[in-house]
Amino acid sequence: MNILVIGTGYVGTTTGLIFCEMGYRVTGLDVDTRKIKALKEGKLHFFEPGMEELLMKHHQAGNISFTKETEKAIKENDIIFICVGTPMGEDGKADLIYVKNVSEEIGRYMDDYKVIVTKSTVPVGTAEKVAKWIESSQKKPISLDVVSNPEFLREGSALKDALTPDRIVIGTSSEQSRKIMRELYKNFHCPVVETTPKVSEMIKYAANSFLALKISYINELSRLCDVLGINVKDISKGIGLDHRIGAHFLQAGLGYGGSCFPKDVNAFIQTAKQHGRSLSILESAVKVNEEQPVFFLDKIKQALGGTVENKTLAILGLSFKANTDDTRESPSLLLINKLLEEKAIVKTHDPVAKTDLVPQYPSVLEAVEGADAIILCTDWKEYKEMELSALKAVMKQPYLFDGRNMLDKKLVDSLGFHYVGIAI
Ligand code: UDX
Repeated sequence: MNILVIGTGYVGTTTGLIFCEMGYRVTGLDVDTRKIKALKEGKLHFFEPGMEELLMKHHQAGNISFTKETEKAIKENDIIFICVGTPMGEDGKADLIYVKNVSEEIGRYMDDYKVIVTKSTVPVGTAEKVAKWIESSQKKPISLDVVSNPEFLREGSALKDALTPDRIVIGTSSEQSRKIMRELYKNFHCPVVETTPKVSEMIKYAANSFLALKISYINELSRLCDVLGINVKDISKGIGLDHRIGAHFLQAGLGYGGSCFPKDVNAFIQTAKQHGRSLSILESAVKVNEEQPVFFLDKIKQALGGTVENKTLAILGLSFKANTDDTRESPSLLLINKLLEEKAIVKTHDPVAKTDLVPQYPSVLEAVEGADAIILCTDWKEYKEMELSALKAVMKQPYLFDGRNMLDKKLVDSLGFHYVGIAI
């Protein structure tokens, strides 16, 4: 079986590489010349730990190739994974324009039976639409099956998540495609949920939304903890040990960001509305998430004497979380914009992510030099291990605002800092 992956972003590249690991030959197709050029040379156009090494390995072994030749790629492959973006449209719904374009191209060029698999996160009912788009652009009727097989990988741990997933969800509507998908995943050792495309599509949204809900729950609790003088980390630990709740996604912070949660939660809310239902619990989660950086900014202002105007603030971390250079919907950028609106002087550092918003420095020391405060925004490991005394020596005032609750208040205070965490 030859596999074609359409869209060579995070999801597409990871999907291609894990199937190479399973012994398949994979072709990656993209319209973006820059991406294809880099990938053809064995180079990644984004940062993901371990991925470039794996790409180089399969590139050299001849297991993976990249192309811009749509017609040839579609004709030569039996299984086609659609991994293109599904960005949030103006109305909060997922914009399916790229999925539609790709489907029409598949219809135009396919000349024998194909299994088309949607990996991108797509609204419930999209598999049916994909089949219609393909059929409507075929020159003559050729049979096909559309399968939903959502990806649950996280940026920063994409390879581990994709190679050893908690579960694989496969939504098919024919015995033939079910057999092919079983064969494709036969070397994965985890539960496989075999279901219909609709259920599979909904599982993905329900999972991401549930995780976002957990984060907003603990973030809203952190505000109550704040007035009650309670460390929210103690609450996370105390409730997370209950296996029915689980310890993951209970770390209070500046709110969830990234390319998935904000978009998927909104799209799920819209799906419910479209069908005359509501997901009010998720609407509240979105509201809490939007308020969380404002809550933290208020704490910063309070500690600095009521204003940040003309204060020099060193933002550590730009990416929406550690181990990625992705700044999409990053709470850090939200906070920077708010600080600029309030006339603060902002300097920044990130180990890999970049911004043009404010001056960025190659080292933490340079970023915090002359600063009134450090504001920790991303949970990079190197920020957990910073030489705080050396930083304090070059700062104007030793304030440390920990938007990730990742440092120990007692320890930081003992070094002469004024430490302010999310709830303590
Ligand atoms: C997410 C899902 O986890 C993944 O299954 C799906 O395929 C894509 O979306 P990702 O966007 O890479 O993955 O990030 P994730 O690790 O889930 O974190 C999302 C956001 O929540 C980040 O901003 C992170 O910092 C934040 N977060 C996470 C918290 O604030 N607290 C937590 O306890 C966990």
